Amino acid sequence: MNTTRFVFCLLITLTTSAQQTLDQKVEALLSKMTLQEKIGQMNQYNGFWNFTGPSPDGGDQKIKYDHLANGLVGSMLNVRGVKEVRAVQKIAVEKSRLGIPLIFGFDLIHGYQSVFPIPLAEAASWDLEAIQRSASLSAKEAAVAGINWTFAPMVDVTRDARWGRVMEGAGEDPYLGSLIAAARVDGFQGDDLASPFTIAASAKHFAAYGFAEAGRDYNTVDIGLNTLHNIVLPPFKAAVDAGIKTFMNSFNDLNGIPATADAYLQRDLLKGEWGFDGFVVSDWGSIREMVDHGYAKDRKQAGEMSVLGGSDMDMESSIYVNELEALLEEKKINIAHIDDAVKRILKVKFELGLFDDPYLYCNEELEKQITGSQELVQANLDVAKKSIVLLKNENTILPLKKEGQKIGLIGPLAADKNSPLGNWRIAAVNNSAVSVLEGFQSYKGNKISHAQGVKLVNKVPDGFHEEVQINTTDKTGIEEAIALAKEVDVVVMVLGEYGFQSGEGRSRAFLNLPGFQQELLEKVAEVNPNIVLVVMNGRPLILNWASENIPAIVEAWHLGSQSGHAIAQVLYGDYNPSGKLPMSFPRSVGQLPIYYNHKSTGRPGADGEDMGSVFWSHYGDEKNSPLYPFGYGLSYTQFEYSPLQLSDDIMDKGGSLKASIKLKNTGKFKGKEVVQFYIQDPYASATRPVKELKGFQMVELNPGETKEVSFRITEEQLKFYNARQKWEAESGTFYVFIGSNSAVKEKKAFELR
Ligand code: GLC
Repeated sequence: MNTTRFVFCLLITLTTSAQQTLDQKVEALLSKMTLQEKIGQMNQYNGFWNFTGPSPDGGDQKIKYDHLANGLVGSMLNVRGVKEVRAVQKIAVEKSRLGIPLIFGFDLIHGYQSVFPIPLAEAASWDLEAIQRSASLSAKEAAVAGINWTFAPMVDVTRDARWGRVMEGAGEDPYLGSLIAAARVDGFQGDDLASPFTIAASAKHFAAYGFAEAGRDYNTVDIGLNTLHNIVLPPFKAAVDAGIKTFMNSFNDLNGIPATADAYLQRDLLKGEWGFDGFVVSDWGSIREMVDHGYAKDRKQAGEMSVLGGSDMDMESSIYVNELEALLEEKKINIAHIDDAVKRILKVKFELGLFDDPYLYCNEELEKQITGSQELVQANLDVAKKSIVLLKNENTILPLKKEGQKIGLIGPLAADKNSPLGNWRIAAVNNSAVSVLEGFQSYKGNKISHAQGVKLVNKVPDGFHEEVQINTTDKTGIEEAIALAKEVDVVVMVLGEYGFQSGEGRSRAFLNLPGFQQELLEKVAEVNPNIVLVVMNGRPLILNWASENIPAIVEAWHLGSQSGHAIAQVLYGDYNPSGKLPMSFPRSVGQLPIYYNHKSTGRPGADGEDMGSVFWSHYGDEKNSPLYPFGYGLSYTQFEYSPLQLSDDIMDKGGSLKASIKLKNTGKFKGKEVVQFYIQDPYASATRPVKELKGFQMVELNPGETKEVSFRITEEQLKFYNARQKWEAESGTFYVFIGSNSAVKEKKAFELR
């Protein structure tokens, strides 16, 4: 036997034996467990008291405490900090009969105490390494605080900016979303899940939550198999292929079946066809909510439908712990369902090293040393700068001069130290973000002044649960802002959304600048045309007036703890912006859902074309095109694309082609360009999008430098879930595009034989 073969066989043997050891450990433990103890592993509670204090003495807190002490809880969420986690783990490990350790979950969506840019912002960086690093360092900071499981990455593709949770995902494209999903899973889980610095990840929300009708959170989802398989599912599959350990299902019903009980999704597809061997946790109370959905007549039946549907752990419904024993006796479910769920949960706990050391993640020293470390600060600032998208820069007002200028920072978000933290910042210290004003003040060469203009909210919301009360009555401050604008060389307007205007439960029916911000912008523009508009938001907004009247516009999202430094460094040119939009920016809410990879329809047309009649797919009062398309973003320099070349115009199945262009930096600054590669399948057994992103490359060029950029085309990229419900590439013509954004027109054809 040659060496390679020997090593291969050895690896197989070692892996199998390691797996058998893991499976044997799980089986051995399972065999010792009572039915109640098994059900306990399927039960997750939210942290709700100061565990380092006296145990609760009444109410459902007492019940939960007793369940903890009797091995009837498998996991807790929102318990954090070494002291608290240790205290809870102690109850489970030392008081319960078998001492099975808890797994501690937390929403590490965009950072722990060091808050990173919201995921939609990071997606705009198209920098997979930076995204992976952001997840990896966030996991490290959370892990040393006792957390060993995150309810992330959120991989819901969405096309509707009214939905508040667009801030949590990677935007409208399944290909970009799949690469980002894998990068985040790799960042969170690393290559050693038993390390005290890595945590289990959770792909959510399975599935199609981003297609909530009318962008209204928790609303009905009704989509066909074509959209489900070609658009919604790829990022989830990418997470499975990246080795993700858990999934979380979604609140919505999908084509009439609540995802929590959807056996097609969770059993046939996820655990069956995809071979997922981790576990599925419900979303918060989603089991109980099946009664409200009108899918279960009562809590007990909701529990039955969820178990049969493949949900392994019950987050905060308290249904599994109270109903499964009776459901078993009534033979509505069987012990195999319970054993399968429990084995999946125990397996992840073994892989996390929790049985070897339940306090593995409880190290006060590490917690002090790593929380808020410079390593986190630097990585945070780096990815924040890369997430900024330059939307407009007329008469190169940007980058700003660093000396001798009077700069007026105006707007309710200019000095805001909270909004940049975005929505999912539970572990952050309030007001801990670097504001834009502070970012500018760290540059000493200019005279910096500030005026709020108008306040954005009537009161600072308490955070997660409270509606944001936008100020719609008090205009005081506008005059002061106008006076300041009159006496400065440049105005930097910082406008947008309050941090809690996006996120869960934060849908909006209007996408304009909230409150009096538009009025403030227009009044300031009347007295000083030299305006740089910095938009700070959690979703695409309607920026039509600004796009016509403001010379420079920068999309700065909610960029996290280092927001102000990132924005100042980009505006001063210390970082040449390279971001590209991961979601289309609409001209009006009426266009939603709007996305680049739309179908042709039987009556296509294009903005401005004279179609000779109204009988084509369009609006009589609005364009079809977005204000800014998917993949759009400018640089302080300019890039020129040579005509697209194909290595051949015929490709056999199993063969490949090369598509290439020459990219030249024709401007004065060194810069990075995300060269994007799209393919269209113009006719097939099912209608196909007019374009689909199939590749991209980040290219950095010095002024005057030229570089060839090429992409390999293979059959794999041409496959889709077709009318025969198979993933196949179908012979025929294909078009190839390479460009700076999804509006690229130039194409070349090839024939797949
Ligand atoms: C929330 C969210 C989910 C989150 C969970 C725990 O309702 O839908 O994304 O992970 O509950 O906080």
